[in-house]
Amino acid sequence: MRIAVITESDPNETRVAATPETVKKLAALGATFCIEAGAGLRSGITDDDYTAAGATIAKTAKAALKDAEVVLKVRRPNAAEIAATPKGALVLAVMDPYGNDEALKAMADAGLATFAMELMPRITRAQVMDVLSSQANLAGYRAVIDAAEEYGRALPMMMTAAGTVPAARIFIMGVGVAGLQAIATARRLGAVVTATDVRPATKEQVESLGAKFVAVEDDEFKQAETSGGYAKEMSKEYQAKQAALVASHIAKQDIVITTALIPGRPAPKLLSAEMVASMRQGSVIVDLAVERGGNVVGAEPGKVVTTANGVKIVGHLNVPGRLAATSSSLYAKNLFSFLETMIDKNAKALAVKWDDELVKATNLTRDGAVVHPNFQPATATV
Ligand code: NAI
Repeated sequence: MRIAVITESDPNETRVAATPETVKKLAALGATFCIEAGAGLRSGITDDDYTAAGATIAKTAKAALKDAEVVLKVRRPNAAEIAATPKGALVLAVMDPYGNDEALKAMADAGLATFAMELMPRITRAQVMDVLSSQANLAGYRAVIDAAEEYGRALPMMMTAAGTVPAARIFIMGVGVAGLQAIATARRLGAVVTATDVRPATKEQVESLGAKFVAVEDDEFKQAETSGGYAKEMSKEYQAKQAALVASHIAKQDIVITTALIPGRPAPKLLSAEMVASMRQGSVIVDLAVERGGNVVGAEPGKVVTTANGVKIVGHLNVPGRLAATSSSLYAKNLFSFLETMIDKNAKALAVKWDDELVKATNLTRDGAVVHPNFQPATATV
């Protein structure tokens, strides 16, 4: 069983899909690794680290991919990578499949068996394979660290001989995996934390972390959670009530961190230009949804924007990649846990159970076709 790992071609991608730890674990199950030289460097892993774990180093991506039966990646392969991957190989990555029909077709045409890790069902058995959670958790942590870096004041209250420093007020908007970790991190740093979400279940979670919950708790709010645990898009009326409540709260905050997302929809706009203008000079906003359209008017992907009234809006890309050693370690473990279910441990060979619930939920392409029901070409639907 030959596994290839290559350097991610996206310049913003600092993560790598295998670590010496997962190389060793898969070697114990019969795998041999061929890793492109330098693939782990941006995550603090050297070629020697991989070699010590038993991997072979290849000079180029093409050489690493030659004869691969499995390819582990962070992002969907590009055209050159697809061309270099042997027909029939399994490719595991965050595939970003929505709206990328042509890329899916290219992978199908190349005969690859591709798996979108972000489509992993959120059931107990698959928690160890849940890349959305492992990475969002780190993004939530890093958002607070990034805010602290941009903020020209201290976060905790300090009573010193030279005077008292007030605690910073931090407001977290969207309390999923990222938001919960942002609350916990902001609390550990001594800030006074409030949070909001449209899902009623989050109220108790926010309070259990020692933060205060702020939300419009009407009938629509009480039914705002889907059976999958995600948020619904709220009505115009609700959004107006939410905006009015949030507006007066925002003006008193030092730091706002937004993480709100709705699956398959653009991120909801939560902060208007007026709300941003109401914040005092030196305040910081971190928009973790910036890659999905943004929660904040004025946020720009990949930039830290300073508004006319001196508020900084932070729009970093690939926030988990800003702590690449940690995020790669967790991501690689997620991949290992999924791939492990596709290996026959006695025969030490690949044995994909194509009717397994997790395989069916994530498998995009196989045997020359796009097989996932959510991504069927329009002409194929009756
Ligand atoms: P997400 O990344 O899709 O969204 C982030 C948050 O934004 C959500 O909490 C959502 O309710 C909120 N949001 C959406 N619109 C909003 C608005 N207008 N105003 C304020 N907030 C808004 O969510 P994530 O982090 O993927 O979590 C979704 C759910 O999945 C949660 O219930 C989480 O606990 C659950 N989950 C379950 C797992 C499991 O059982 N294995 C694993 C991970 C998460």
